[in-house]
Amino acid sequence: MPRTMHPSREELAEIIKLATDLTDPGHPVSVEQLASCADEEARAPLLRLCATEARRQKECVRRMAGINERLSEQNKLLTGEPLIEAVFIRAAENDKAVVFARGHRQQVAVDAGVDARALKPGDGVLLAKGGAAIIGRCAASLNGCVVAGFVRWAGARMLVEYGAGQKELLEVPPGALEDPAVAGIEAGSEVLCHGEARIFLELLPKAAGDHFSILKEPPSVSGSDMGGMEDLYQRIKTTLCACLLHGDSARLFGLSARPGVLLAGPPGVGKTLIAKRLAAELKAGHGNCVFASVKPGEFASKWYGEAEARVRAAFKHLNTHAARGLVVLYLDEVECLGRTRGFAPGGVHDDKVLACVLAELDGLQSLSNVAVIASTNRVEMLDPAFVERIGGSIIHVPRPDARTAAEMLKVHLPEHMPFSPNGAERHVTRSALIEAAVALLYADNAPASAIAKVTFTDGKQRVVLARELVSGRLLASLADAAKRRAHDRFIQVGGGGIRVEDIEWAAHETAERMRRLLTRENIHHYLTDLPQTTQVLSVDPVMPPGAAEGPPLIVPRPIQDDDWIIQLLDPESQP
Ligand SMILES: Nc1ncnc2c1ncn2[C@@H]1O[C@H](COP(=O)(O)OP(=O)(O)OP(=O)(O)O)[C@@H](O)[C@H]1O
Ligand SMILES: [Mg+2]
Repeated sequence: MPRTMHPSREELAEIIKLATDLTDPGHPVSVEQLASCADEEARAPLLRLCATEARRQKECVRRMAGINERLSEQNKLLTGEPLIEAVFIRAAENDKAVVFARGHRQQVAVDAGVDARALKPGDGVLLAKGGAAIIGRCAASLNGCVVAGFVRWAGARMLVEYGAGQKELLEVPPGALEDPAVAGIEAGSEVLCHGEARIFLELLPKAAGDHFSILKEPPSVSGSDMGGMEDLYQRIKTTLCACLLHGDSARLFGLSARPGVLLAGPPGVGKTLIAKRLAAELKAGHGNCVFASVKPGEFASKWYGEAEARVRAAFKHLNTHAARGLVVLYLDEVECLGRTRGFAPGGVHDDKVLACVLAELDGLQSLSNVAVIASTNRVEMLDPAFVERIGGSIIHVPRPDARTAAEMLKVHLPEHMPFSPNGAERHVTRSALIEAAVALLYADNAPASAIAKVTFTDGKQRVVLARELVSGRLLASLADAAKRRAHDRFIQVGGGGIRVEDIEWAAHETAERMRRLLTRENIHHYLTDLPQTTQVLSVDPVMPPGAAEGPPLIVPRPIQDDDWIIQLLDPESQP
C-alpha cells in the first residue's frame, strides 16, 4: 500500500506566511511608494529595504517550488499504482531478485536505489511497476513464518516436514551455510521457515529432544525413599510392567499393549517419585532404561506450528531411545495439555498441540517398551481422549493418612540421625517426635490444625484442616525445618540432637505457612473435593488461638512473592 505523505507543519506555516506577506496591503515597501519618492536621501533606505524584500521573496519562491515538487510526487504516489508487499527470497542473476508476492515466487528487477546485497531472505520489500521491481523495504511480514522439522538435505535445498506430515523443499540462502550449525544440521532439528515462500530463515536454537529431559541414568530413587506407599507403588508397577515386559502375552489375551497410567493427585504426594523409582528399578533389573520427563507447557511457542514441531521432534528423539531399550516417559502437569478440547486457554492452537501429542502417543503403540506415566493435579480438566490414549487407567495418589505420614516422616528422619538424648534413648525420641508431628497435623482440634476458612458464593463455608493439605513434600519440608533448628542449636551451643520440641516448632511453622499458602486461586489444586456447582468467594486464614495476643509461636520469615511457597513445596530448592 502506498504511504500518504503530507507537508510538514512547518512547511504549511511557511506557505501561509508567504501568502500573507505577498498579499499584505500594509507591506512596508511598494513600487508606487518607491516611484513617488523624489528625495534621493529618502530613496536610499527604501531601496535597501526593497532589496532585502526582493531577496526574501526570492527565497520564498524557491521554497515553494520545493514544496510543490514534493506534493506532486506524493500526488503521483496517491493516484498511481499501489505498491505490493513481498518477501525477499534471494538475489538472482542480472541484478534481479527472487521474491514471494501475491501467493507465488517470482523474479523481479531491483531499483537502482535499493541495495540488494543488504537484503536477507525473509526481509520485507515493496514492489512497484506492477510488481515488477523492488523499490524499497518494508517491515517483514511474519505471517506465513512456520516452524518445521529438518528431514534431510536434497542437494542445496532442505527437505522439511511440517503440518500434518506435510513435506516441503526449502530454498537455503548460500550465506546460511556459512553457519556451521546450519551446515551440520541434524534430522529432527527445528527450523524457522517461510512456509509459503518456501525459504529457510533460521535454525531454532533448541535441538531436537531438548524438550524432553532424558536421563540415561534414572534418578536413584528406591523403596527406602518412599514411605507408606508400597502397595500403591506395586500396583502401578504391575500395571505398567504387564505390558512393558510381557507385551506379547498381553496381546495374546487381547489386552492393550500400551503401558500407561495416569496418576491423579494433589501436589507433592509422590507422583514424580513413583515414576523415578520405576525407572530406577527397571534399569537395575533390565540394564537399559532411560527416564524422560516433560511438562507440556515446555512445548509452548509463539510461532505458529512450533509447539507441534517440538512435540514431534521430542517424540522422534524419544523413539531413538525406545528402539534401544526401555523408556519411562513421565508427562507432568498434563492438565495443561489434555484439557477438554474446545476449552483450552489457547483455543484452537492448544487443541492442535493436544491433537499432536495424541497422535504421537498413538505412534508409540508399536513401541511397547515405552511406559507412559502421566500426572495431574486436576483430573476433572482432562480430555477423555487423552485419558484413553494413556491406557485408560487412572490411579489416584491420595494424600497420606496419619499412618502413611508417619512412614513418610521415617524416611525424612532416618534412624542414623542424631536424636536427643543420644544413646539408647535415641529411637524413643525419634518415635516420639514423629508421633508428635502426626498428632499436631492430624488432630481435629489441635491449635495447628485449622488452616483456613473457605466461603463459597452460595454463602456456605467450610474449614480446611491441616491434614487435608499434608503431602510427602510438606512432611519432607517439616522434617527439614526441625533438622535445621536442631542444627542451628548444635552450632551455637554444641552437642545435642533433634528434640521433640523441634518437630513441634516445625509443625507450627508448617501450619503457619499453610495458612499463607492457600488462596482463592490455587485452592482447587490442593482440595479435590470442592463442590463443582458453586465457586469459591474467599479463603481466609484461621489463626490459632492466642495468635493475636503475645508473641507469635513462629516469627514468619520475610516473604518475597512465591519464594516461601516454593520452599515449602520443594524442599530441594531450599538453600
Ligand atoms: N512416599 C513418600 N515418602 C517420602 N517422601 C515422599 C513421599 N512422597 C513424596 N515425598 C516427598 O515429597 C517430594 C515431592 O514428591 P513428588 O515430586 O513426587 O510429588 P508430586 O506428586 O510429583 O508433586 P507435583 O504434583 O507437585 O509434581 C519428594 O521429593 C519427597 O521428598
Ligand atoms: Mg511432580
